[in-house]
Amino acid sequence: MNEVQALMGREHDKLHSVLSDYQKHRGKSAAKQHFREFREGIRKHIIWEEEILYPLYEERNGNRAAGPTVAMRGEHQKILGLVEQLHGLISRDDWHTEQLESALIHLLSAHRDREESTIYPWMDESVSAKERLAAIARLRAIV
Ligand SMILES: [Fe+2]
Ligand SMILES: [Fe+2]
Repeated sequence: MNEVQALMGREHDKLHSVLSDYQKHRGKSAAKQHFREFREGIRKHIIWEEEILYPLYEERNGNRAAGPTVAMRGEHQKILGLVEQLHGLISRDDWHTEQLESALIHLLSAHRDREESTIYPWMDESVSAKERLAAIARLRAIV
């Protein structure tokens, strides 16, 4: 069973698709709505990871100080920084956003590849089904 990998892969796809909806409407008011949805979605996603999934990995791997999640938490900060820069421009109807968007998409893609090739498969293999389902239930309780 690969519950964590499957769930988080679907969530990554969803975030990319909302961002692409935003890009399709760039310059129009619908873009603002899509970007708002993306910004809320990515913030929640990062809370899921930093408060529930990464700690589970770090505890089990005894790898808290030097493991891959340290770098991934740093990437989250960079992702959120780009999202906030974009948010600032879009709020002012400044649509000179393409460079920031490319940087964001590049970073998001590399980041999801790392998560989906390291910690999520590890969780599905090394954490019991009962604990995985409990972690997923805790994610779902965060709104
Ligand atoms: Fe992440
Ligand atoms: Fe993620």
